[in-house]
Parts: sequence; C-alpha cells; structure tokens
Amino acid sequence: MNILAALKNRFHEVLTEYAGDSDVQNLLDMIKQAQDARFGDYQANFAMPLGKRLGKAPRDVAAEILEKVGLDDICSQTDIAGPGFINLSICPDWISSQIHVAAGDDRIGVSPVDDPNTYILDYSSPNVAKPMHVGHIRSTVIGDSLARTLRFLGHQVITDNHLGDWGTQFGMIIYGYKHFVDRQAYQQHEVKELSRLYRLVNQLIDYWKSKNGLDTQQQEIRRRATELERLEQIQPTGDKKEDKKHSKMLARAREQLSQARKIFESMQTKVAAIEEDEQLKGYAQQHPDIAQSVLLETAQLHQGDATNRQLWEEFLPKCREDIQRVYTRLKVQFDVEYGESFYHHMLPGVVTGLQQAGMASESEGAQCVFLDDFETPMIIQKSDGAYLYATTDLATIAYRMNEWDADEILYVVDHRQSEHFHKLFAVANAWNAPDVKMHHISFGTVLDETGRPYKTRSGVAVGLEGLLDEAVSKAFEVVSANDDGKPNGPELDEATRNHIADVVGHGAIKYADLSHNRTSDYVFSYDKMMALEGNTATYMQYSYARVRSIFRKGGVDVDRLRQQQHPMILGHSAERALAMMILRYSEALENVIDDYRPNQLTNYLFDLAKRFSSFFEQCPVLKAEDDAIKQSRLRLCDLTGRVIAHGLDLLGIGIVEQM
Ligand code: ARG
Repeated sequence: MNILAALKNRFHEVLTEYAGDSDVQNLLDMIKQAQDARFGDYQANFAMPLGKRLGKAPRDVAAEILEKVGLDDICSQTDIAGPGFINLSICPDWISSQIHVAAGDDRIGVSPVDDPNTYILDYSSPNVAKPMHVGHIRSTVIGDSLARTLRFLGHQVITDNHLGDWGTQFGMIIYGYKHFVDRQAYQQHEVKELSRLYRLVNQLIDYWKSKNGLDTQQQEIRRRATELERLEQIQPTGDKKEDKKHSKMLARAREQLSQARKIFESMQTKVAAIEEDEQLKGYAQQHPDIAQSVLLETAQLHQGDATNRQLWEEFLPKCREDIQRVYTRLKVQFDVEYGESFYHHMLPGVVTGLQQAGMASESEGAQCVFLDDFETPMIIQKSDGAYLYATTDLATIAYRMNEWDADEILYVVDHRQSEHFHKLFAVANAWNAPDVKMHHISFGTVLDETGRPYKTRSGVAVGLEGLLDEAVSKAFEVVSANDDGKPNGPELDEATRNHIADVVGHGAIKYADLSHNRTSDYVFSYDKMMALEGNTATYMQYSYARVRSIFRKGGVDVDRLRQQQHPMILGHSAERALAMMILRYSEALENVIDDYRPNQLTNYLFDLAKRFSSFFEQCPVLKAEDDAIKQSRLRLCDLTGRVIAHGLDLLGIGIVEQM
C-alpha cells in the first residue's frame, strides 16, 4: 500500500469540486510526507493557494475539505495549523492492517504501475581498448539500479551497453600494433599489451603536439604578460565603478597569465618525459607525423581496409572479454551490447535523411545541423567524410525506435557530455523521434582525498579490478575485526569471512556511488564507505544480518512465522515509527523514478535501518512481555529484513546471513 497514494485518492474527488482536472494534480502534489514527525505523518498545503483563489480564509477552506473527505478510518488526528497547513496522523489500527497486508505480499506492498512504459537504458558504455575509469563504474552502477527499479515497478526495460568500439582509439592501437608491438607480451596478455600501445601512441601524439606548440605558447605568455603590465600601469581614477572594473580585469589578466604558464609547464613536462628516455626519444624521431597517421588508420578501418578490419576483429573480442570480467564481478548484465560499430553502415542514411528533411546543410565543407537554442551547430559529417559521435547516436535512436518503440531513453553518462545530449535530443525530437522522451542522467566526478579526479593506480582496466580487489580486502579486515570483537569470541571461519568480504566490498563501492546525489562530485574513501555505522551498504547489510541473528538465537522458524500471520500490535511509538517506515517503501521507489535518483532509495534504507535500530533498543523482541507482542515484533523484524534485502537488491547489492 502506498499511503501517500491512498491519501491522494481520498482527496482527489473532493478537490475536483474546487479546481479543474489539470489543476487538481498540482493541488494533489502538495500532499507530502511531513518534514517534522511532531506534526504528523503527512501534510497538505493546498488550502493556501485555494483560499487565495476563492477569496476565502485558507483555514476555512482546509476545514471544509477535511470535513468533506472524511479521513476517520485512515487518520487518528487531523489538524489545521498556522495559515492553513493540514497535518495528518495515520492511525495505528490502519497502519497495522496495512502492514499485515504488506507482510503477506511478495512485493511487500508495492504495486506495479498501471500503465507501464518501455524504457531503454544506455549505461556503462566504455570506450574499449582505452582505460576504463571510475566514471564508468558510476554509470554502470546507477544504470543497473535504475533498470532494476523500473523493472520491479512493472515497466518494460531494455538495457544497452553502447560500447565505444569504433573510435580513434582503434586507430591508435592499430598504429601501435603495426609499429611497436612486443610480440611476447602480446601473447601473454593481449589486452595489457594493447593498453600499453594505446598509452604509448597517446604519449607520442602528445609529445609532438606539445613540442610543436611550445613556441606559440611562449608567445601567448608574452602577450598575456604585456597585457598585465599595461593594466598594472593604469592609475586608479577615483571613480568607484571604474576602479572596481579595473581591479576585476587585473585579477583576470593575472589568472590568464598563470594559466598560460601552467599549460606551458605541462607541455614541457610532456616533452621532457620523452626526451629523457632514449627509447621513447627514438620512437618520437621516427614517427613525427604520428597524429596524422593514426587518423588515417582509423579512416582506413572505417572504409573497410582489409588489414585494419582484420586487426580490429582480432582485438575487439579480447577487449570485450577484459571488460566483461568487471561486469561479472559487479553482477551486471545487459540485454544488448551493440556498440558504435553496429551502427556504422547506417550513418550515410542519417546524413541523407537529415538533408532530405531540410535540417542538414553544408558549412565549411562539413554537414551540420543548426539549432535555434545552441550557439554551435551539431556536426554530423566532417569535410573529409568522417562521421561523428553524434551521427552514431542519431542512428542509434532511429534503430531503437524501430526495434522497441521506446517511450523513454535514459543515458547515464557523466556531466561533461551534457551539451552533446541536449543537442542530440533536440535534433532527434525535431527529426525522427518526435514523441520519445530522452533524459541525460548526468552524474558528477569521483574525487580522491585531495579533491582531484580519482585515478586508478595503473590507469587501465586492470586498475579498475584492482580497485574492486582493494575494496574486498579492506572488507575482509572490517569483517574480521568485527568478528574478533564479538563478546563470545569469533563465529566465522575463513571461507565465510571471504564470502562476506566479497559481498561487503562490492556492496560498499556500489552504495558509495548510489548514495551520493548523482549530480554532485564525491570523494572516494574506502574507510567511509565501509563504516559499520552510517549511510553505508555495510550498515544495511549489518542490520539485515542482525535480524537473521535474532531469528537464529530465538530458534524462529521464519516460514512458519510468515504463515501464521499473527496480528500486528503497534503499542510502542518505536514500533509504530518502524511500521510506518516499512509502509513507505513504495513511496521511496516512486521518488527514485521521479528524477532517476537512486539516492532516494539509499536515504530511505538508511532511515529504515535507523528506525529499526531504535526499535531494537527500546522494544525487547525475544524477551517481549507476552507472546502476542513477541510474535508481532518478530514479524516487524522479518519485514524490516525483507525490505532491506529487497531494497539492496534493487541497488544491485547482496546480503549475508551473518557478519
Ligand atoms: N563511450 C562514451 C564514453 O565513454 C559514452 C557513451 C554514452 N552513450 C551514448 N549513447 N552516447 O564517454
């Protein structure tokens, strides 16, 4: 049962007497969970706007509506506070009857939506052969959790890993393979060698770019310095506004000069890194046009050149296998993994399609789509004939509409691509997908403790696995310390500890990603994510294990407990508070979907676990005053455990029976 939905239902009919259909929805949206539990469980604020509109005192309007709705069976108390806030307290009997229903329901009281949509979720989508970074974990984990939640709510979901398997990184490794491969290393571990080649070629390209750019950058520094000198010589005029403007310009000029110097320094570092190494220096001398050559390799691959195509076909499965290991560990699966190469043959059609629709036009030799709301056009084909990332995305949308007739497409991609997606949605909506709703589920950067973007140690896909390994080994320490500190001595053998560490370690990484507001950056810290107290997976898993340990200690037969369905008694305020929270599970899931934010679910689980903990402190379970209360409390424990396990599962996180 969704209490909020039940309340809205009750108000709906009465509110139609006061407002038109579309407006009723707005008024109903003003019924919400109470901010402060002292004022009740829910509150409704619609009497204020209604009163204004009707020229009546909002308090009178509130009283009139409450009278007409009649909430005696659901609410033990309804109050009108201040200017006309309606505060509603749900009555314990109603809570216990609803909790009884939820307990007997596989879905723990969460009904599927009435009209399901077809969603396509585009997430993870790393560029293969290139180092996969923590940002890709974030996309993977958020996307997976949204897919699970939408499915549970009854929607049709297709998950698609839109792999970058066709980009310039292949030009780089093909070039690297042709010129620098270490055969033995390649035979031992193909992907490792390909990663090395990728980094080497990248470094050589950077070297030449920096080396050739040093003079220009030096001139830039001189120009900036002269400009600063000029500004510094200007005397204050005494005019406040003028002087303020001047000091702003000074600050900016200083900043620009220091930026220019920083860029110069980083170029010098790149140059030095190569020139100080005899072998690298030799490579650089022999490959002065490497940047151009790499582009050519990519172009030849795209044009069907036999050698490059064959190399690509050899490399791709190896790279995919390598990424697959990470997915297996994270227990993430995709319905399809087409990747960019899948759409390659459709790209000419995108360009002609947009030309025929009158949307594409030539500008400086390139095919462009100009959009009203954007300063720069979307380029769909470069003057040399090459297609772009955006062209592939347009083909992908066309394919998805054709194949699945999607209602909504969600792209879980970091915030730096936000402009790309805004343009993409604008073009697709204007061209071939007018009705589909597309959302960029953007997310912030994962930072290290110094506030810089988090880098895995070796910076390659192997590094990402290293990150998971480290989480598991830290989890092992946490689990062992906790077990060693038990009053009656340790309970877990080595194998059990290992299993728990695996679930706790992976869970911690996922939960840390999911529990932060996705649009903010967050600091990656093993210690914080594995704390036994606080908003962590470890705490949730611990709360679940605690429920199981109560059952073990009391010799409770859970199946029987579930069958017997003893009445729920919510005499203590902590029991009532916990039961109320259990009933709010479906509201929490609705909040997740509302703006595609899994942290709505982690927040909810954290609140639930806290209420469980205070219930447990205040209400003896196995030693309850009588059997009826004991049975009711056992059922509350069981339900809490079920909701935690279910919620964690929607986050893609596992549970353990003991910790
Ligand atoms: N491969 C891209 C990257 O790693 C992300 C792709 C996101 N999906 C899409 N349809 N554009 O940055």
